Amino acid sequence: MVAMARNSLNILFVTAEASPLVKAGGLGDVAGSLPLALRQRGHDVRIAIPRYGSINLDGHKCRRSSEFVIPFLNNQESIIVNEVFLQNDTPVYLVENKRYFDRQAIYGEADDLERFLLFSRSAMEIPKQLNWRPDILHSHDWHTGIIPALLTVDYRNDAFYSSCASVYTIHNMGYQGWFDDSFANRAGLYNYMPPPEDSLRSKSYSMVALGIYNSDIISTVSQTYAAEILTSEYGFGQETLLQRRQNSLRGILNGIDYNQFNPATDSAIAANYDIGNMDKRIANKLALQNKARLPVDAGIPLLGLAARLVDQKGIDILVPALDSLFAETNVQFVLQGTGDPKYEDVLKMLANKYPDKARMFFILDFSLARLIFAGCDIYLTPSRFEPCGLAHLIAMRYGAVPVVRLTGGLAETVMDCPPDILSGLGFVFKDYNADALLGALRRALRAWQQKDRWQQLMQRVVKADFSWEPSLTQYESLYEMATRKLEY
Ligand code: GLC
Repeated sequence: MVAMARNSLNILFVTAEASPLVKAGGLGDVAGSLPLALRQRGHDVRIAIPRYGSINLDGHKCRRSSEFVIPFLNNQESIIVNEVFLQNDTPVYLVENKRYFDRQAIYGEADDLERFLLFSRSAMEIPKQLNWRPDILHSHDWHTGIIPALLTVDYRNDAFYSSCASVYTIHNMGYQGWFDDSFANRAGLYNYMPPPEDSLRSKSYSMVALGIYNSDIISTVSQTYAAEILTSEYGFGQETLLQRRQNSLRGILNGIDYNQFNPATDSAIAANYDIGNMDKRIANKLALQNKARLPVDAGIPLLGLAARLVDQKGIDILVPALDSLFAETNVQFVLQGTGDPKYEDVLKMLANKYPDKARMFFILDFSLARLIFAGCDIYLTPSRFEPCGLAHLIAMRYGAVPVVRLTGGLAETVMDCPPDILSGLGFVFKDYNADALLGALRRALRAWQQKDRWQQLMQRVVKADFSWEPSLTQYESLYEMATRKLEY
């Protein structure tokens, strides 16, 4: 049965990624599943993304929705908007422009600032073209941080948007879309920054700062992270601005799509299973060992990780911790991910040193990631910071026991097991160093030896609810708060 919301809202998600059309990381998963879950509750949620050259529309019914021209940085840019539908008929508006979006890359282009500025400006025009009035413009991360600013400044006197509020969600403070004076001048960004006499002006040269400064409500993807980003350790220079807006800042934990990530139906894994027949899971472990060309042996504990290889993910403490672990015990490790060459290099060295224990796949392969979730005994997330973290939640749904650092969403989702392992969901360490991680890994491996208790632990892990369900009412309150703010 579909639970109906008290007030049905029109909500436009404006985002750089939305799975399954385009995904670089967790943002894509969230923007491709939260709207669907909110629609189940009766809201009219729609999504706007750029139409990158790499988006494949095979199998999607695609129809022309509108066409318009936007004056942009001394040019007239032609925009074409096509509409496709995700599951349960969620509309996605694909914003097309030859000059800026018709390329393979999502990010990392020299003109990223311009690209996402044009995208954001175009996204604001779509509802007007359709005469569909959003109650909420919900934008995400630095790419669309300008949206709340456009709403409060450029569209201030536009009756169409007079009852529209903005919600801005931060998925990662580590990426801010910094710009300089010359870009601010060229793109007219001073209009959206704190005034020159404000002490925060000099720190506001980022798209994230513009989002925080201008939006009605700011949210992030766990309560712990919402508190962490108020500190200089996690705020990436925006802690003072965030402190100023603290009353409008909330943390809501991400969920995962339980239909999409389901070991009972997942076709990317070697054998399907569910909580009633977890013994079948072992076939995935053997398949993963085989694929990784490691000794195929159910009796050797297998650790896994699928992540972007960036500073955030804790590779610098993982490598020395695994080096010690491999030297002292028989354990295997499989990794899938791409990223910074410096991390690939150290991981490669580790795999060369222990060829029968470690295997690294430096590729982007979401199917392999799923086999890792289904095949490993222990899933690692030793992040320096982690706003929410989705991979460990998926791994848990697939029956892997997590080892995580006590930060962000990891701290909220993984309760540490006591020595008797009769409660808790995994193994948590606090300090960001290799020894602390090694301590948690040793505890996890000792627990793994106690077969019965490990089975009970796996059952608890699989039963924990990380679906969107518990977060939906929180989003509804957030949206209501945002619309209420318009009244004063
Ligand atoms: C980013 C964060 C991750 C979060 C995801 C979705 O990728 O690094 O922690 O889960 O966004 O919100």
